[in-house]
Amino acid sequence: MLTSWGKACLLLGISVGNLVTAQDIITSDTSFYGQSPAVYPSPEGTGAGDWTSAYQKAKAFVAKLSDDEKVNLTAGVTADNGCSGNIQSIPRLGFPGICVSDAGNGLRGPDFVNSWSSGIHVGASWNRGLANDRAVYMGKEFRTKGVNMILGPVVGPLGRVALGGRNWEGFSADPYLSGILVSESVKGLQSQNVATSLKHFIGNEQETNRNPTTDSNGQYIESVSSNIDDKTIHELYVWPFQDAVLAGATCVMCSYNRVNNSYACQNSKTINGILKTELGFQGYVVTDWEAQHAGIASANAGLDVVMPSSSYWNSNLTTAISNGTMEASRLDDMITRLMATWYYLGQDSAFPNPGVGMPASIYSAHKAVIATSQAAKPTLLQSAIEGHVLLKNQNHALPLKSPKLISVFGYDAYTPLTYTGSTVSFATTTRSALYQNGTMYSGGGSGTNSPAYIDSPMEAIQRRAYQDGSSVFWDFTSEDSVIDYVSDVCLVFINAYASEGVDRAALSDTYSDAIVTNVANNCANTVVVIHNAGIRTVESWVDHVNVTGIIIGHLPGQDTGRALVDILYGDANPSGKLPYTIAKNGSDYGSVLEPSEPEGKYEYFPQSNFSEGVFIDYRAFDKNDIEPQYAFGYGLSYTTFGYSNLKISKTSASSTQYPAKASILPGGNPRLFDTLVKVSATVKNTGSVDGKEIAQLYVGIPNGPVRQLRGFEKVLIKSGKSTTVTFTLTRRDLSTWDTDAQEWLLQRGTYQIYVGRNSRDLSLTGTLTI
Ligand SMILES: *[C@@H]1O[C@H](CO)[C@@H](O)[C@H](O)[C@H]1NC(C)=O
Ligand SMILES: *[C@@H]1O[C@H](CO)[C@@H](O)[C@H](O)[C@H]1NC(C)=O
Ligand SMILES: *[C@@H]1O[C@H](CO)[C@@H](O)[C@H](O)[C@H]1NC(C)=O
Ligand SMILES: *[C@@H]1O[C@H](CO)[C@@H](O)[C@H](O)[C@H]1NC(C)=O
Ligand SMILES: *[C@@H]1O[C@H](CO)[C@@H](O)[C@H](O)[C@H]1NC(C)=O
Ligand SMILES: *[C@@H]1O[C@H](CO)[C@@H](O)[C@H](O)[C@H]1NC(C)=O
Ligand SMILES: *[C@@H]1O[C@H](CO)[C@@H](O)[C@H](O)[C@H]1NC(C)=O
Ligand SMILES: *[C@@H]1O[C@H](CO)[C@@H](O)[C@H](O)[C@H]1NC(C)=O
Repeated sequence: MLTSWGKACLLLGISVGNLVTAQDIITSDTSFYGQSPAVYPSPEGTGAGDWTSAYQKAKAFVAKLSDDEKVNLTAGVTADNGCSGNIQSIPRLGFPGICVSDAGNGLRGPDFVNSWSSGIHVGASWNRGLANDRAVYMGKEFRTKGVNMILGPVVGPLGRVALGGRNWEGFSADPYLSGILVSESVKGLQSQNVATSLKHFIGNEQETNRNPTTDSNGQYIESVSSNIDDKTIHELYVWPFQDAVLAGATCVMCSYNRVNNSYACQNSKTINGILKTELGFQGYVVTDWEAQHAGIASANAGLDVVMPSSSYWNSNLTTAISNGTMEASRLDDMITRLMATWYYLGQDSAFPNPGVGMPASIYSAHKAVIATSQAAKPTLLQSAIEGHVLLKNQNHALPLKSPKLISVFGYDAYTPLTYTGSTVSFATTTRSALYQNGTMYSGGGSGTNSPAYIDSPMEAIQRRAYQDGSSVFWDFTSEDSVIDYVSDVCLVFINAYASEGVDRAALSDTYSDAIVTNVANNCANTVVVIHNAGIRTVESWVDHVNVTGIIIGHLPGQDTGRALVDILYGDANPSGKLPYTIAKNGSDYGSVLEPSEPEGKYEYFPQSNFSEGVFIDYRAFDKNDIEPQYAFGYGLSYTTFGYSNLKISKTSASSTQYPAKASILPGGNPRLFDTLVKVSATVKNTGSVDGKEIAQLYVGIPNGPVRQLRGFEKVLIKSGKSTTVTFTLTRRDLSTWDTDAQEWLLQRGTYQIYVGRNSRDLSLTGTLTI
């Protein structure tokens, strides 16, 4: 007789260790946090929404395949190219195969591509149109190189863990902002016929123990289990995935971690249940690389394609069909979903040969396939500019006013010393690598990208000095530089590094802080620029009287220097705002500062309880009444803005508490996206220069967090002029996930409405009764 946990192990195909098994530990522990309930069978793709003709073509194609050919399409193969993964061709049917490659912020590996601003930078720009343009030009590069699918964009990690090593790959710790920007990114990329592989589904919020390991005694240690309750997963973590599926995302990558103790790539509740049933996802689910941990169990849980190859499936799939453990229709559905994606994006006509611009090695003979273009340049630069956030600007230190002497300090100012193609090799991936020598334009790991060039801050400053006839001094290596007494401004460049595979060890580092403090002690006009792959705290020098300016530079990509100089000299007015909260002290992030570590009786089955629920980042600061150093949504401009004239109006759709039943389309019940309320306000540029403001709308839902971002508009307003910003609130925006009803539900009562400059500066307030 199997215990219920034992049955769950079989059902979910959890691979148990050699020495101590999950069963030994957990069966008697009835309080154990959640076990994923099984959801079978795996829903077949139906061709809902605008997928109808793609499904017709895919079904006709699949009907021509032999069993072996079908099986061959369910997993990747190694090929003589530089693609991260390949699906092999079927020449007899004219199918050329598929090349997929890293990653969400630009192609990693080949020559002749651009280094785009990273996700966090796009998040800080809060610019829908720009996110779309970036994706269009990035998509063209993938297409030109013969890459059928970009392994991105990233909306998980969302940023639960402040020290998370991959938070910079995605847009924001807020699901609404992340959802809008991923939606624009998916549309832009797919407009170039390139598939998107939205990742990582789901609960991949830390790098620590993301994959199974074996300790020195040979004890197998499973991946960390993200234990997430049903309400939190819907309101926070699934939210941006839902927006991306609504926007037409074609593929979802399941993650390395476990969810409620079942691996994310064999979790029938998350894949069959949430993604394929509730969200009506029509594309296919692909594993993260080597993330398959079970055979037929993963197939029945809804996994469709394995990368880079499968050591579980192959002929076992047909065996399982003949012995009755898997339906033949499941195999057909896997590859119908794969092929439907190919047809959906028109890759059957006029798409370059898979991998045509992706040589196995750029260090041996290969054809130059040039994917960079003149047309992309304005977007590369604008995207680099708008992700900078001006935090402090004492005595109008910025923009600079014809400085005669500029002194430049810090290891982050100059171009990394070596780049011979592929990617700049920043130092080792260890938790202790807090900063990197050379200007940081991207984080590390698979999410990095390959610059066509790097225009470092120092090079751009020197160019400007040449143009202006000013002088430049520099010291990139000393902690205790001497400083020319008559420097008009001292620019200090530091960074905060992060990379896939490890979480960060700290939110700041004493070496970098010492460089800043030394300069500030000796220079009355010190402007600090930080390139940061995640949250960077500034408490040790933020209030130094000589630190007159602080710019959060994030990860701008290859145009980093010229973008910064445009801002420093006022050719561009800073318009970015923080897509996360900067605390006064790391401890203010509470239990989600650090990743979870294996401990106690769960040493071999590490657990991460998401017991804070939806209260991460500003939701937690608001709940616990902690004053941030710089609030979520904060950012200065060279001008000022005033807010007035809040108006709130309801539409008739707001009278019913539940969304009307409707057939599920990609994105879920389409009634969730009906507009229920419109809010408008007047924003005036009250300063002396033109500038872009990001007006933000927050809603306090009854029984929910104090406030949650539910609207934003980035508008260019000329000096002295006003404009009206309008926000639309959908049913989902105003609802909470009801676990009993398994439905989004409006809350009867009074909603608080706030409009203003950031999450802690909301001068317009009103209410709404539903
Ligand atoms: C996680 O939750 C489970 C079940 O409630 C509990 O037994 C365990 O101690 C929790 N782990 C941590 C680290 O809080
Ligand atoms: C995980 O467990 C929680 C608590 O039992 C439950 O609310 C949630 O639906 C479960 N999620 C999954 C994906 O199994
Ligand atoms: C399946 O893939 C293998 C490995 O590439 C290949 O040898 C075999 O011919 C393929 N089978 C069919 C039927 O195409
Ligand atoms: C079939 O599955 C077993 C167990 O998961 C695995 O060891 C074997 O390699 C698989 N066979 C193939 C051909 O992949
Ligand atoms: C059926 O075949 C699959 C794949 O080889 C195997 O994993 C499973 O154990 C088999 N089941 C039975 C009942 O034979
Ligand atoms: C950066 O360069 C300095 C020498 O200027 C060296 O001492 C330091 O170890 C380097 N740091 C890293 C992270 O590579
Ligand atoms: C600020 O800079 C000036 C040099 O211009 C220096 O004399 C002064 O001590 C500095 N102030 C502090 C608090 O370090
Ligand atoms: C930050 O928090 C830690 C832990 O609570 C505390 O020891 C430390 O003094 C705090 N630092 C500051 C600058 O407040």
